Amino acid sequence: MARSKSSQRWLKSHFDDEYVKRAQREGYRSRAVYKLEEIQQKDRLLRPGMTLVDLGAAPGGWSQYAARLLQGKGRILALDILPMQPLVGVEFLTGDFTESEPVDLLMELLGDDRVDLVMSDMAPNISGMDAVDQPRSMYLAELAVDFAANVLRKGGDLLFKAFQGEGFDALVKGLRSQYQQVKVRKPRASRPRSREVYVLARHYRAVDMS
Ligand SMILES: C[S@@+](CC[C@H](N)C(=O)[O-])C[C@H]1O[C@@H](n2cnc3c(N)ncnc32)[C@H](O)[C@@H]1O
Repeated sequence: MARSKSSQRWLKSHFDDEYVKRAQREGYRSRAVYKLEEIQQKDRLLRPGMTLVDLGAAPGGWSQYAARLLQGKGRILALDILPMQPLVGVEFLTGDFTESEPVDLLMELLGDDRVDLVMSDMAPNISGMDAVDQPRSMYLAELAVDFAANVLRKGGDLLFKAFQGEGFDALVKGLRSQYQQVKVRKPRASRPRSREVYVLARHYRAVDMS
């Protein structure tokens, strides 16, 4: 099937991309891994023994990287609306995070385990229309924030992808009362033209349920 000029251009720039080449060389499933790697080098989020949840995990670069750093100690639960090839040390669930059933299943799998880190690289399919894409991506970010509030242990961390635009500043502001520290990161592997950033909220204060 003939490809359109724009998709040919996208494919060419994708395969010319230094991070795509590096991922192929280093055996990672996606270039996205280098965003997490840069954040890890700065912020030291991942460590053996922790329990973490990876939302929007497919094709699995972040989970792969996390599994390497956890060295078989701890727990990684991953979810995506798309199927993902299995990874040793990763419990994977296929499901739409905007629906309650997969989220309930995730909670069931967690059982009494409190989570040390929730990370979300979820992004909607981009239509190119800001009025559609921005609210969709904010919705996914808000769901990740709500989920984290339900599963994180006191002192736990949350890392999620968001797009700067309508609703972004208010979301970040709201996090400042729930976490001791909130930072916005723009890793080098995140395309400079994109409004994509990563919000890192650290040391969850936890709500006193008593
Ligand atoms: C940028 S990719 C994630 C890449 C991944 N971090 C990696 O390192 O390979 C974004 C993912 O979010 C997933 N996603 C988007 N909407 C979702 C939803 N409602 N529920 C679950 N996953 C979703 C997409 O299917 C896609 O796999």
